[in-house]
Amino acid sequence: MVLTKVITFLVLFVSISPSLAQSKDGGHVSLQVSQTGLDFAKDFLIQKVISTSLPLQLPEIEKKVKIPLIGKVRMGLSNIKIYAVDVQSSKVETGEGGLVLSVSGATANVSMDWSYAYKASFFHISDHGAASVKVKGMDLKSTVTLVGDKGSLKIASRDSDCKVKSIGIHVNGGASWLYQGVVDAFEKKIISTVEETVSNKILEKMKKLDAKLQSLPKEGKIDDNVAVNLTFTGNPVLDNSSVEVGINGLFMANGDGVKVSGFQSSSSFPKVKRMMGIAIKEEVFNSATLVYFIAKKMHLDIEQTKNGSALSTSDWKLILPELYKQYPDVKMMLNMSVTSPPAVNITENGIDGTINLEISIHVKNSGVVLPVARLSTAMSVAGTAEIAENNLAGSLKLKGFNATMTWSKLGDLQANYIQDVASTILESLFLPYVNTRLKRGFPLPFTHGFKIKNTEIVYVENGVMVCSDVASGKIITVSQD
Ligand SMILES: *[C@@H]1O[C@H](CO)[C@@H](O)[C@H](O)[C@H]1NC(C)=O
Ligand SMILES: *[C@@H]1O[C@H](CO)[C@@H](O)[C@H](O)[C@H]1NC(C)=O
Ligand SMILES: *[C@@H]1O[C@H](CO)[C@@H](O)[C@H](O)[C@H]1NC(C)=O
Ligand SMILES: *[C@@H]1O[C@H](CO)[C@@H](O)[C@H](O)[C@H]1NC(C)=O
Ligand SMILES: *[C@@H]1O[C@H](CO)[C@@H](O)[C@H](O)[C@H]1NC(C)=O
Ligand SMILES: *[C@@H]1O[C@H](CO)[C@@H](O)[C@H](O)[C@H]1NC(C)=O
Ligand SMILES: *[C@@H]1O[C@H](CO)[C@@H](O)[C@H](O)[C@H]1NC(C)=O
Repeated sequence: MVLTKVITFLVLFVSISPSLAQSKDGGHVSLQVSQTGLDFAKDFLIQKVISTSLPLQLPEIEKKVKIPLIGKVRMGLSNIKIYAVDVQSSKVETGEGGLVLSVSGATANVSMDWSYAYKASFFHISDHGAASVKVKGMDLKSTVTLVGDKGSLKIASRDSDCKVKSIGIHVNGGASWLYQGVVDAFEKKIISTVEETVSNKILEKMKKLDAKLQSLPKEGKIDDNVAVNLTFTGNPVLDNSSVEVGINGLFMANGDGVKVSGFQSSSSFPKVKRMMGIAIKEEVFNSATLVYFIAKKMHLDIEQTKNGSALSTSDWKLILPELYKQYPDVKMMLNMSVTSPPAVNITENGIDGTINLEISIHVKNSGVVLPVARLSTAMSVAGTAEIAENNLAGSLKLKGFNATMTWSKLGDLQANYIQDVASTILESLFLPYVNTRLKRGFPLPFTHGFKIKNTEIVYVENGVMVCSDVASGKIITVSQD
């Protein structure tokens, strides 16, 4: 669970990027990570690697050493552990199709046990004790290149190099010659062992990350009927200071449903100024309305208002006097069905939609449900996107509508009555119900497990981009597994 959080964040780290023009291989959603996002991810990653690697055990070293006046001594270092690492300076750069993370001048504390044994005349002499080593000037450079592979991201090449400038050895106890003996015999070996062990550890971590990347789910379930296609498309695109990756992003029926293929609209998103940006193209919204429409989820039966009062003909006395006259004070029921997948259009000014809705008005007369009229309406709505938790949420406002009475038991109604009835139903019943659902929103891809903040929503032609920072507190306290 917690691991997934880490993974998703790592994915963001290694995968988000900028010029949408480049995610040409069928991505309808793209994730960008800016330089600040990369820096944040870098610090997170360094923390993570350190906290999950320490204490880091190094192999034992043993040597026969010639000590003046004493002769041949068998000396050994065992239980060698790096138990603390301090990183003061690090950076992450993009380039050459890869990400380069470098750490310079880090220090590390190593603890170990020493022992020696030698023969003097008839005696066998041996001793043991503890020593500590301060590793100074440790430079580390790791490079990863990422490619898209069968809908996943994978690390195509990885490389890690660690260089240690010097170490300081402190020997506790032992004979007076011991210190120099350890330094002479083991200094180089300790340095090379630290360098090798750290490099290998980093490579091992990258391998794990690679496995995690490739095991990321290819779809995100939204509810029993609907999922989002999270397949990665194409290769990550790196530029100067950001990384971008495309995902298919379209809504689809859960299981063996109808396959939705989105027409690829062209939009150009600005470079993200926050840590990350999630650019969503118009066709994603249209795939959502299509899939919900096909799943027969665009149907509403209403018997009461949002505030819980039952619909009654008496409330409609003024707008539908004919109804009240024929069925005074009886309960009503409205069946509303969207008759075609609502169309969504996005411009710099926001989101527009058109919804075709058929409304059947029923009365419940002594337990019998009787249809009394049917209206056909076409409405145009303005949508506003907002962020609720880590969901993209929103709301709709009625901009205009047409209504015609397609069937009626109430006789011919005047056009203005029809307009009033439709207006009342749309404004006070239909849209409030729809907005209740939209307010909950839909999960933004790959944001699971961390908190987004300072969100900004940018509308462009044919798309909307959610830009945000990531709250560090939560991430840093995430523990592994
Ligand atoms: C590492 O060693 C230095 C000096 O010996 C000491 O000041 C520092 O606190 C040590 N760090 C840790 C985490 O133990
Ligand atoms: C890289 O960055 C420099 C300055 O930071 C800028 O002038 C240049 O256009 C950038 N190149 C690309 C490909 O974005
Ligand atoms: C998901 O997206 C990928 C990449 O665009 C596509 O190849 C695949 O057919 C899609 N899957 C479904 C079930 O639509
Ligand atoms: C309940 O909703 C109806 C119609 O939407 C409205 O006329 C009425 O004032 C509301 N009552 C309360 C208590 O909010
Ligand atoms: C209205 O909806 C109810 C509940 O779904 C259903 O039983 C009824 O058949 C519907 N009536 C019409 C006319 O669609
Ligand atoms: C709205 O979008 C659809 C497809 O997404 C497109 O066919 C239509 O022309 C657009 N309408 C406007 C007014 O932009
Ligand atoms: C209403 O109908 C007119 C004419 O048929 C049409 O031009 C207009 O776009 C329609 N309005 C809506 C909201 O569909």
